[in-house]
Amino acid sequence: MGLLKSLFTNCANPQGRMGRAMLRFMNLCHAPLTNWGLDLIHFQDGWTMLDVGCGGGATLKRLLKRSKNSQVYGIDISKESVEKARKVNAKLLDKRVFVAQGSVEKLPYDNDIFDLVTAVETIYFWPNLPACLQEVRRVLKPGGRFAIMVEVVDSKSKWIDLCEGITAYSPDLLKKMLDEAGVVQTETHLKQANNATIIGVNT
Ligand SMILES: C[S@@+](CC[C@H](N)C(=O)[O-])C[C@H]1O[C@@H](n2cnc3c(N)ncnc32)[C@H](O)[C@@H]1O
Repeated sequence: MGLLKSLFTNCANPQGRMGRAMLRFMNLCHAPLTNWGLDLIHFQDGWTMLDVGCGGGATLKRLLKRSKNSQVYGIDISKESVEKARKVNAKLLDKRVFVAQGSVEKLPYDNDIFDLVTAVETIYFWPNLPACLQEVRRVLKPGGRFAIMVEVVDSKSKWIDLCEGITAYSPDLLKKMLDEAGVVQTETHLKQANNATIIGVNT
């Protein structure tokens, strides 16, 4: 495997030295997509929020800034991601920021507790996406929002070749899957060729 491909393969489950390099890179490079997506959400103070596939934890920091007196939870399948996210949020760790290792397939949270769940550049890697969407819905409060941000919306993207295990979903397909999971009133926002934010509301 070439160096570049091996580096990007660490997007799916960052591990070791390459994984740590990738997490630093993603914390910086995902800022424009994440901030654009978060700008589309009407935040309120005191929210309880979850970032699934939180990677290096930059989104957790961004969420905290947008909702005063909030609490933010992060979860990621990768131990390396969890360590980095904890370091990046060290000041508020276990006070307002809580980071756990685990998979979106079985979230370690009670039903109906989050006002907002975000997923930035991660749904491509989730196994059995419809079941994972159901699991996200389970932890959302009624009326809570789920925001998906992606920059791969079709199978022609260069990332499909670079990162192992990526599945591209079109915004239309995502909307249909969200509807079926009970996350409705979906808004789709598109920017440039490939950036999409899809926001739905839990019924
Ligand atoms: C491309 S990175 C994006 C990280 C972060 N959201 C960001 O924007 O920088 C994808 C992340 O999703 C995580 N991930 C992949 N499959 C997952 C799963 N089943 N459950 C939770 N996290 C997962 C990976 O470990 C990785 O940290």
